Amino acid sequence: MQRLNIDLGERSYDILLGSGLLDRVGELLSQVLQPSRIILVTHPSLFRLYGDKVLAGLKKQGWATDIIEVPEGETSKSLQQADIIYDRLLDFNCDRKSVLIALGGGVIGDLTGFVAATYQRGIPFVQVPTTLLSQVDSSVGGKTAVNHPKGKNMIGAFYQPRMVIADLDTLQTLPQNEFRAGLAEVIKYGVISDASLFDYLENNTAKILQLDHECLAYIIKTSCSIKAEVVEKDERESHYRMILNFGHTLGHTIEALTGYSQFIHGEAVAIGMVQAAKLSQQLEKCQDEVPKRLRKLIKKCGLPSQWPDLDSKAVIECLYHDKKTMNHKIKFILVKELGSVEIVEDMPEADILKMLQS
Ligand code: NAD
Ligand code: GLY
Repeated sequence: MQRLNIDLGERSYDILLGSGLLDRVGELLSQVLQPSRIILVTHPSLFRLYGDKVLAGLKKQGWATDIIEVPEGETSKSLQQADIIYDRLLDFNCDRKSVLIALGGGVIGDLTGFVAATYQRGIPFVQVPTTLLSQVDSSVGGKTAVNHPKGKNMIGAFYQPRMVIADLDTLQTLPQNEFRAGLAEVIKYGVISDASLFDYLENNTAKILQLDHECLAYIIKTSCSIKAEVVEKDERESHYRMILNFGHTLGHTIEALTGYSQFIHGEAVAIGMVQAAKLSQQLEKCQDEVPKRLRKLIKKCGLPSQWPDLDSKAVIECLYHDKKTMNHKIKFILVKELGSVEIVEDMPEADILKMLQS
C-alpha cells in the first residue's frame, strides 16, 4: 500500500493506494476516526460487487453500520437525493460522530461529500473511489456538490474527506469507456505539470489499457501527488487550482450543448484538451508538437478528439455561463509546453471563435 499525505493543516489527510484495500476499510478508518455509527453510501450495483468486502471489515471493528443505496447516474447529484439521504440519516439517529463512507465514482463522492458537509453542520466522511476518474481526481481535494437545473455543481462546499482509500482492484470491473474517460484526467496531469508522466503514458498506453498493475499504481499515485500539490497551494481555487481545469472549459460546453448524453465527462474533456492545445499553438504559446502529441495520445487511448458539430454562438454563450466566468470574462488554461500551463483571465471570444472555425 502506498500512502500520500495532503497537507492542509488541521484538514490534512492521507490518500491510501493499493490492492486489497476494500477488506481493510474498517481497519484503516479506525486509525483516524472513532465513529459512533457508519453509513455506507453507494449504488446498488456496487453494493452487489463490493458491499460484503467493505461490511466484513467494518463489522470487525464492532461499529453499527447502515447502508444507503443511491440510483446510478448524474441525476442523483441533486438536492432531492441529498434530502432523501438526510431523512435516512435522521431515521438512523446519526449524530456528529457518525461517519459517511462514499463507495463509488465521482457521483457518489460528490453527493456524499455534500451531505457530510451539511448534515448537522458537518460530519466526517471517507472517500472509497472505485472509478479511475474518482481515484485520480474527484475523491481528492474536497470539492463536493450537487447539480441545479441551471447548472452542474452549482450547489456545493469545499469539504475535505478524512481519508481516501483507493483500491486499484476495483478498476477490474469498471466498464472500458469509464476507464478511458478517467485516463483523460491522467493525461491532463501530464500536460499541466509533468512531462515525464506524459511520456510514460505515450510509452505504456497498451499496458495501461490492459490494466497492468504496476502501470496503474504509477499513474494513479503520480496523478494524486500532482492534485495534492495543487490543492495544498490553493485549496479554495482562488487562482492556481484553476490549472486543473485544463480542457474542462470547452469540455463542459460540449457536455452541456450535447445534452449530457453524447459524451461522458472524460471524453468531453479529451476533446476540450485537444482544442485548448490547438488554441495555445495558434496564439503562439506552444510549438506545433504539443497539440500533435496530445491528439495522438488521446486517440491511442481510445478517446474522442474531434470537435463535434456545435453552433459557435451557442458555444460562446455557454462559455460565459460557466461558473468560473466572472465579470463577463472567459477564464482559460493554455499550454506553454508539456508539463506547463498558463492561466488566462480574459480570453477574447474572437480567438476562441477563430480556433473553432479553423
Ligand atoms: P460515476 O460516479 O457516475 O461512475 C460511472 C459509472 O461507473 C457508474 O454507473 C458507476 O456505478 C459505475 N462504477 C463505478 N465504479 C465501478 C466499478 N469499480 N466497477 C463497475 N462499475 C463501476 O462517474 P465518475 O466518472 O466516477 O464521476 C463523474 C462525476 O464526478 C461527475 O458528477 C463530475 O462532476 C464529478 N467530478 C468531481 C470532481 C471533484 O473534484 N469533486 C472532479 C471531477 C469530476
Ligand atoms: N477537478 C478540479 C478540481 O478539483 O479543482
